[in-house]
Amino acid sequence: MANRRPIIAGNWKMYKTSQEARDFALSIQEKVEDVTDLDMVVCAPFTALHILKEELEESIIHIGAQNMYHEEAGAYTGEISPMMLLDMACTYVIIGHSERREHMKENDEIIAKKVKMALDKGLVPILCVGENLSMREGGKAIGFVRGQVEKNLMDLTPTELRKVVVAYEPIWAIGTGKTASSQDAQEICAGIRTTIAGISGTVAQEIRILYGGSVKSSNIAEIMAQPDIDGALVGGASLDPQGFAELIHNAR
Ligand code: 13P
Repeated sequence: MANRRPIIAGNWKMYKTSQEARDFALSIQEKVEDVTDLDMVVCAPFTALHILKEELEESIIHIGAQNMYHEEAGAYTGEISPMMLLDMACTYVIIGHSERREHMKENDEIIAKKVKMALDKGLVPILCVGENLSMREGGKAIGFVRGQVEKNLMDLTPTELRKVVVAYEPIWAIGTGKTASSQDAQEICAGIRTTIAGISGTVAQEIRILYGGSVKSSNIAEIMAQPDIDGALVGGASLDPQGFAELIHNAR
């Protein structure tokens, strides 16, 4: 079994003004300054990234974005390029979150391009996959998620694939207070690893797979105890610095 370094990533979604982002950044640093055994990431709205760059660039907390466009530059009004994220000291970027797949109609083809472009430019993509409630109830979750992973990652070389982080986020568990049972989450995450092994056998054991969906400081330890789960992508519980720091400590 490869020795995978855990990740706890916060996804602020469409929350926090620049002042709120600064308050968070100033508050969390001392609370997690002794955390050296996992990677901590805060994925902020574009408008707060410059604040995190100022406050966190020199810290042990990594900065991430929640989306990017799949071109380097050009006439794409309203879009943000990977170069712009690098300029904001981002090292991670969430790609294909279910909220973007649903509300912004991002499809697997676009998501595969974004993953590839992020890697080309040296950003670590956190690729989100996950089924909705009717798929889960119809027994189709595992097949659907494995299909997403295949479509989103199949064009990558082993060297590229090795850097990808996958987040399994069942849509029905996001922001609902319902968490997948740790056994169900483990089953899907193991299935994701098997799918990656099918794309490139040698790297599957190295890839970090996260769980997301109503993760809290009270359930993180049980989630982390699963053999194929290497961390969490946290929405609501990442907004308060005290609570997020507690969650990070409970993940260790
Ligand atoms: P919650 O933790 O609020 O359920 O959100 C999960 C999520 O979508 C993280 O990307």
